[in-house]
Amino acid sequence: MENKQKIILTGDRPTGRLHIGHYIGSLKRRVELQNSGEFDKIFIMIADAQALTDNFDNPEKVRQNIIEVALDYLSAGLDPSKVNIFIQSQISELTELTFFYSNLVTVSRLQRNPTVKSEIQMRNFETSIPVGFFTYPISQAADITAFKATTVPVGEDQLPMIEQCKEIVHKFNSIYGETLVTPEALVPKNEAQGRLPGTDGKQKMSKSLGNCIYLSDDEKTVKTKIMSMYTDPLHLQVSDPGHLEGNAVFTYLDAFSDKRHFEEYLPEYQDLQELKDHYTRGGLGDVKVKKFLNNIMQEELAPIRERRASYEKDIPAVYDILKKGTEAAREVAAQTMADVKAAMKINYFDDAELIKAQSEKYQRAE
Ligand code: TRP
Repeated sequence: MENKQKIILTGDRPTGRLHIGHYIGSLKRRVELQNSGEFDKIFIMIADAQALTDNFDNPEKVRQNIIEVALDYLSAGLDPSKVNIFIQSQISELTELTFFYSNLVTVSRLQRNPTVKSEIQMRNFETSIPVGFFTYPISQAADITAFKATTVPVGEDQLPMIEQCKEIVHKFNSIYGETLVTPEALVPKNEAQGRLPGTDGKQKMSKSLGNCIYLSDDEKTVKTKIMSMYTDPLHLQVSDPGHLEGNAVFTYLDAFSDKRHFEEYLPEYQDLQELKDHYTRGGLGDVKVKKFLNNIMQEELAPIRERRASYEKDIPAVYDILKKGTEAAREVAAQTMADVKAAMKINYFDDAELIKAQSEKYQRAE
């Protein structure tokens, strides 16, 4: 396939405000990729159609969260003059592609998709899985291929999705001829950044557990959440030796801190290793570590908060960014759709050769 452009596509389900786990695991990286100048096109999708696969009975929730996610994107530093932010459901080509790709995927293959498997469990869908939810990996392959994406920045949990997409691309191209581009996943660099636990130390930040720090939280809320974070239940007195495993404060420091933060806020330590050593030896209190983390987080979040405040002043302009982004995305998807239809031989009216050949066949038969 002739395609030398480097194209990014990624997205999020609009089911809630984005938190610092999303930020460190993906948003921050997207901003870096945006500013790297290495990519010809970047598409960031608000995956409302996918969100509806398990929230079909709550459309208002999805509708309300479109603007929340858009504000989070813009405040995190995504720049609409460099990236294309759009809304999935408004591009009908994506559903059209999903329908044709579904011929190329078996039920048993979907059943084996580890992401689908674990999400079915999480949602207690075992006994009655909605077909739309079950087949969302196919729709995700449509999202990726519609934009001829070469690079898909995602969390580790999404790797089976990219695998499934590659299989669809391979099968499509081998049956219908080289048409679609094979994407590669791009996963977070460091483990703590890829999997930020909740403030309560639980595996994942989740709205229902109330253990998230949101990008839109104000300074005071962030501080309160950090000062009450889960650390080490055995570390009762400052002099007790502390443990790092499962200690959320240290996992956050792994994800967010660098040497410069030590110079700035905690010059009595060289780096994180020294701080960890002191903690495990005993003699270092949680409050001191939490205050350090709070300084780092406030520094990271302050510019995000500022940008959010300015975008919040003009919400119609934010919808306009989404509308323009969607229009531009639709043009690209329409081109791919035309390629797919031609490859699948369902481009009847665009194919003068077909009409001519059929006509000759019947003239001869006369
Ligand atoms: N499934 C992704 C999530 O849970 C969202 C998403 C939808 C996506 N389509 C995509 C991500 C295509 C990457 C590529 O957040």
